[in-house]
Amino acid sequence: MNYRIATSEEFPRLAELRWKFRRESGEEPLMEKADFVSRCTDFLKTASENGFHTFWIAESSDEIVGNLFVHRIDLIPRPCQFQDAFGYVTNNYVIPSHRGRGIGKALLAKVREWATKEDFELLIVYPSERAEALYAREGFESKNDVMEMRLRDF
Ligand SMILES: CC(C)(COP(=O)(O)OP(=O)(O)OC[C@H]1O[C@@H](n2cnc3c(N)ncnc32)[C@H](O)[C@@H]1OP(=O)(O)O)[C@@H](O)C(=O)NCCC(=O)NCCS
Repeated sequence: MNYRIATSEEFPRLAELRWKFRRESGEEPLMEKADFVSRCTDFLKTASENGFHTFWIAESSDEIVGNLFVHRIDLIPRPCQFQDAFGYVTNNYVIPSHRGRGIGKALLAKVREWATKEDFELLIVYPSERAEALYAREGFESKNDVMEMRLRDF
């Protein structure tokens, strides 16, 4: 298994995986798959070019079998530390045939190593209930520091 950051040529495959992930979660689409993949590919291209998104992939025999995205959130400069950021971990998905073999864990480890080098203060995630144990094993804690105000349903 190879873990690395995706190239732009791979964005259509990432868009397809996004479709699979959300369909597997039971969401009913309001558009055709081809339309979604095309528009999502454009979104990923723009998001990557603006420098705030990084798309990690797990690759097996030239096939992308999993991905994990990080959205960089830049903090307002402080006199004691001008440049600061944290990372929002999202879109963690491994195709069903490859689950339970440590790919999700390895992607998290890679992201942790990379985010440490990038000097992020911390990483956050909104875990599904089933995935909570995975994140906890990799060092995520529920500290209740975050308050949120819900404005509408997800
Ligand atoms: C979460 C996910 C990426 C883990 O990938 P993986 O390669 O199977 O992960 P690992 O083999 O490293 O670790 C297995 C752990 O993943 C979690 N997990 C397993 N199946 C899962 C599922 N269907 N959904 C969410 N988490 C799952 C469990 O914590 C499991 O540990 P356990 O067997 O001790 O309970 C993968 O299960 C998946 O794509 N699930 C569907 C999408 C999803 O729920 N993503 C998480 C959103 S927060």
